[in-house]
Amino acid sequence: MNTKVWVVDNLSTESNTYPQLDEPARLLREGEVVAFPTETVYGLGANALDKNAIKKIFEAKGRPSDNPLIIHISNKDDVNSLASNISDDAQKIMNAFWPGPITLVLKKKNEVPLEVTAGLDTVAIRIPNHKIALELIVRAGVPIAAPSANLSGKPSPTNAEHVLTDLSGKISGVLDGGETGVGLESTVIDCTCSIPIILRPGGITKEQLEEVIGNVEYDSHLSNEDYIPRSPGMKYRHYAPDAQFILVNADYNRFQTIITEAKSAGNRVGILVSDEGSKILSADVVVNLGSKRNLLDISSNLYKGLRNFNTEKVDVIYGETFEEVGIGVAIMNRLKKSSGDLVVY
Ligand code: TXA
Ligand code: MG
Repeated sequence: MNTKVWVVDNLSTESNTYPQLDEPARLLREGEVVAFPTETVYGLGANALDKNAIKKIFEAKGRPSDNPLIIHISNKDDVNSLASNISDDAQKIMNAFWPGPITLVLKKKNEVPLEVTAGLDTVAIRIPNHKIALELIVRAGVPIAAPSANLSGKPSPTNAEHVLTDLSGKISGVLDGGETGVGLESTVIDCTCSIPIILRPGGITKEQLEEVIGNVEYDSHLSNEDYIPRSPGMKYRHYAPDAQFILVNADYNRFQTIITEAKSAGNRVGILVSDEGSKILSADVVVNLGSKRNLLDISSNLYKGLRNFNTEKVDVIYGETFEEVGIGVAIMNRLKKSSGDLVVY
């Protein structure tokens, strides 16, 4: 399959008519699979109401069939045709944060195919905060199911080039809207329980949610690995670079000793570190994620940084750890997943 690329300037105010969206919108309506940018990561979209189109997403990604998809809509009212029993807390979250990087898990309506929800009786829904994504959904005229547009297990794509690296030849096309902003996936929150539960930390933090609805909990698997996550996707090894990736929970002195030891054992060593770390540490390949005082920069650069090591070949990558406050919780969640929880001290 020839994968098309449609380039759109997300920031342009003049070209609000976006003629480049006509073809991808039509392909979506016709049951094809198209990748598009959102404010978090690129998504791999298909008509959420078309079972055959949904199957194509799972095939292209090599995604396990028990891992449900998020449905993307452009208008809050559309929630009511996909979900029922929407609680007051869920309503408040949607009003406060949509469009934005938060996905609500709600009781599904029969109209939503079980292929999308991987057989669950709940459905995950969000409105992305991205001009091109919203316009594409409007023009397609159907709700769009979309997981991140990477091969299953790889870091999520934050630009069109990442999408093509993983999926070229396997999908109809990709809308190239430049780099995404947040860089990490949306927060997933289960709103079917009396106290909403964060299943996946992401762009909207627990602190932000608590300001709007009071009590919010984290799913037990996030603090205790003996628990099985209730969000199916969270149980897989994820976001992984090709080389072995190990987190370093130590000061820069100790960090440098670890690098030096690995080098003397004959390894080509990469490090994924903050700007501060990059000034002190030396290794064969240094990827700088930005200042650790600005965790939003770190989140925005994280996946691109991890993917760097697939071109800059190394034997082992050591990663700096970050403070688990605000978006730092999501950053550390992804770093732990990418490393398969390998930490040295
Ligand atoms: O930011 C994002 O959320 C991106 C962009 C494209 O919107 N999408 C994304 O999708 O990250 P994906 O498929 O990579 O991750 C969806 C997560 C998975 O962990 C999945 O298990 C969970 O959401 N999920 C989906 N439906 C669910 C449900 N009904 N109950 C519990 N978890 C669900
Ligand atoms: Mg994903």
